[in-house]
Amino acid sequence: MSLSRRHLLTAGAAVAVAAPGRGLANPRFDRNPFGLGVASGEPTPDGFVIWTRVLADPVTPAPLAGDAFRLAYQVAGDPGFRRILRRAEVVALPQDAHTVHVEVSGLQPGCDYWYRFLLPPGHVSAIGRARTTAAPGAPVERLDLVVGSCQHYEGGYYGAWRDAIRERGRPLDAVVFLGDYIYESSVGGTPPRRHNVLDNPVTLDDFRRRYALYRADPDLQRAHAAAPWLVIWDDHEVDNDYADAQSQGLMDRTAFLALRAAAYRAWWEHMPVRPALRPQGPRATIHRRVRFGDLARIDLLDGRQHRSPQPCPRPGRGGSSIVGPDCAARLDPALSLLGQAQESWLYDGFRAGGARWSLLANPVLMAPLDFQIGPGEQWRTDQWDGYPAARARLYAAMRAARLSNPVVLTGDFHAHIAADLLDPAAGNAPVAAEFAGTSITSGAPQRDDAWFAARLAENPHLRLFNNRHRGHLAVSLTRDRLVADLRIIEDVGDRLTAARTLRSFTVESGRPGIVGA
Ligand SMILES: [Fe+2]
Repeated sequence: MSLSRRHLLTAGAAVAVAAPGRGLANPRFDRNPFGLGVASGEPTPDGFVIWTRVLADPVTPAPLAGDAFRLAYQVAGDPGFRRILRRAEVVALPQDAHTVHVEVSGLQPGCDYWYRFLLPPGHVSAIGRARTTAAPGAPVERLDLVVGSCQHYEGGYYGAWRDAIRERGRPLDAVVFLGDYIYESSVGGTPPRRHNVLDNPVTLDDFRRRYALYRADPDLQRAHAAAPWLVIWDDHEVDNDYADAQSQGLMDRTAFLALRAAAYRAWWEHMPVRPALRPQGPRATIHRRVRFGDLARIDLLDGRQHRSPQPCPRPGRGGSSIVGPDCAARLDPALSLLGQAQESWLYDGFRAGGARWSLLANPVLMAPLDFQIGPGEQWRTDQWDGYPAARARLYAAMRAARLSNPVVLTGDFHAHIAADLLDPAAGNAPVAAEFAGTSITSGAPQRDDAWFAARLAENPHLRLFNNRHRGHLAVSLTRDRLVADLRIIEDVGDRLTAARTLRSFTVESGRPGIVGA
C-alpha cells in the first residue's frame, strides 16, 4: 500500500493522489452520486479549478457515513475525451461534504478543455467545459462574459441561465456571479417553487442542504458546466443586510459569527473556487483579481465581510434603511464598504494597471439613487449610497491611477440599471459606467411605469432603470468597445421561457461612461 488511509484523510481536500491506497473502497450508489453536477472556475492562463460533490441523494441529502471517496478526474482537449491531457485521483472527504476542488495546471492559454469525474465502480459525472485565459499581456481581440446574480430558488425557474449559455457561435469565456447564490429566507405567498426546508439555515448541515437543493437544479448545473465561473457573495448567502459581524436582527455577535462561519464554509464547499479560499472559522479572503491577456481584468470584491455597519439604522435593528440629509453619520469618512485592507489592495491594483478594460465585480449598486421625488434626497444605506466617502475614495483612486476604462458590474438590485458614475470631485464628469444585471429569479416590488419615470427624471445619470424582468447581462468586449446586452426572460415560472434583449448599451474605449446622450 503506497499511501495509508490515514494519510489520505489528513492530506486535505482534493489532494491529487498518484498512487492511491487500497483502503478506500467506494460503496455502490443506487443513483448517480454526481447529482449536483460539475463546475469549473478561477481560470488562469494555464488552468482552472474543477469541482464536484459526491452525494447519494441531492434532494434530501443525508450526510454520508464518515467515508472518504476515491475519485478520478480527467481533463481532455476534446469533448469526446479522445485526447486526455490530465488524469489523477482525488479524495472527497466527509469534512468537506465530499466536495472536491481540484486545481488543474500546465494547460495552454486561451483554449477550451473538457473535464469529468469518475467514481469507481462505474459512476461517471456530467462533462463540463472550461477555458483558460490568455497568456499574461497577450493580445486578446474579444471577450464574452455572462453576468448574473440573485437566484432565489422560490423566485422561479432558471430560464435566465438557459438563455445565458445559449449557443452564440463564440466561446463563452467566463460567468461572473455577483452574489445571492442561495437565499437564507423563504418568501411569502405562493411562489413557483419552494425551498424544501423553510427555516433559515443556521448550522453547517442546514447550509449544505440549501446549497444541495439549488445545485440539484438542472439549468443551474448546465450553466456551471458551460464555462468557468468567477463568484463573489453578497448578503443572502448568510443573512439579509448583514455587515461584518452585525446581523440585521442584531443577533448576539458570537452566535452570528458561528452562523457566518457555517455559511462561508458551505459557500466554499459548493463553489468552484480555490482550496486557498477555504474559510478559517468566520473569515475568508475572497477578493481577488483575474486577467484576460491585455484586454481586461476583473477585480472581484467582497462587500459584506469587511464593511462598516450601515449608518442610521432603524431603531433596534441593523441593516439597511432609507435616510435623508439628517443622517450625518452617512458622511463619516471612517465608513467603508470594502474595509481598509481591501480598499488598499484595490487601489494598488488600479495603479498596477495592465489591461485595456478594468471591470469591477461589485455586489451592490454604486450609482447614487435618490428615492425622494422633488426637493430633498433619500438614500438607501445598504448600497454604496450608505458609504459616500468610500465611493469618493474609489473614484479618486480610479482617476489618480488613470485607470483604463473602468466598468462596474453590479448585482443585488433585482433591476436592470445602466448608469454613468459621475464624480462630484471632478465637476460631475463620468468616471465609469455601471451596469446592474437584474436578478436570475429573485423578485422585485411591482411598480408602474410612472414610478420608474419619476426616478429616472430624479436621477438623470441613470440611462435605464427597470425591475420588471428577470434575466442577466451579456457583456462582450473588444479593444474599442464594451457592449452590455440587458437580457430578459418572458416568464420566470416557465423553465423553457423565451428570452430577448431589453436594451443594449455601449461604452467606448477612452471615453468614460455610456455612449449616447
Ligand atoms: Fe438579491
